[in-house]
Amino acid sequence: MDKIGTYIVFEGCEGSGKDTQIEMLANVLQWRKKHFIAVAKEPGGTPAGKKFRTFLLNEERVPAIGEVFLFLTDRVVNISSFVIPNLKAGRIVLQNRGPGSTFSYQRASGFEDLNFLKTANLKAMQGVEIDLNILLDIDPRLGFERKKENGIDINSFEARPIEYHEAVRKNYLAQAKDDPVHWAVIDASSSDREAVHKEILKQVSEKLGL
Ligand code: TYD
Repeated sequence: MDKIGTYIVFEGCEGSGKDTQIEMLANVLQWRKKHFIAVAKEPGGTPAGKKFRTFLLNEERVPAIGEVFLFLTDRVVNISSFVIPNLKAGRIVLQNRGPGSTFSYQRASGFEDLNFLKTANLKAMQGVEIDLNILLDIDPRLGFERKKENGIDINSFEARPIEYHEAVRKNYLAQAKDDPVHWAVIDASSSDREAVHKEILKQVSEKLGL
């Protein structure tokens, strides 16, 4: 794909502050640094994706392979209908969750075939490559405490046992360790969102020159 934009995906356990930090980064890049920004989300960032999202987060649990196919279908639609056109237009796409979530959550759900996951995800990405994954790393217990404080509704993934979320975190950190060029790990345990934001800006500038 001839992409001229930049693709940044935010990852992290529940309650890690992805939405807040995406908004803060978008503001700086747009207003201070004069870039054009598009904000994306998986699952459910597109009109069709909203239907997958409702199913995934509200219906009874499907086997891990079913989760894989559903999230990948949502990804196919997001990449083709939103990400590719925006990258081709030269925008910076900031996205809440993406492949890093699949490799963390579905593996924690018990899907073990890493080679299949890599191949299928590559197809779903349709030639698009992520320039930087920003992992907002947090102990899931702390993340859930924050969610409770903010009174945000719990979906079917969040309702899974804490051991599930601990496995998710471990899988995230392993991905980041394996590919430090395309991952930045940010300590998101601080309640000082400005401090977390500053660290993100530093990494985005160092790794992408933005
Ligand atoms: P959502 O409410 O969007 O979570 P958040 O606001 O924290 O981003 O719920 C999305 C859920 O879907 C989240 O618990 C993680 C899960 N998920 C996967 O299991 N695999 C995936 O590939 C993606 C994109 C999300």
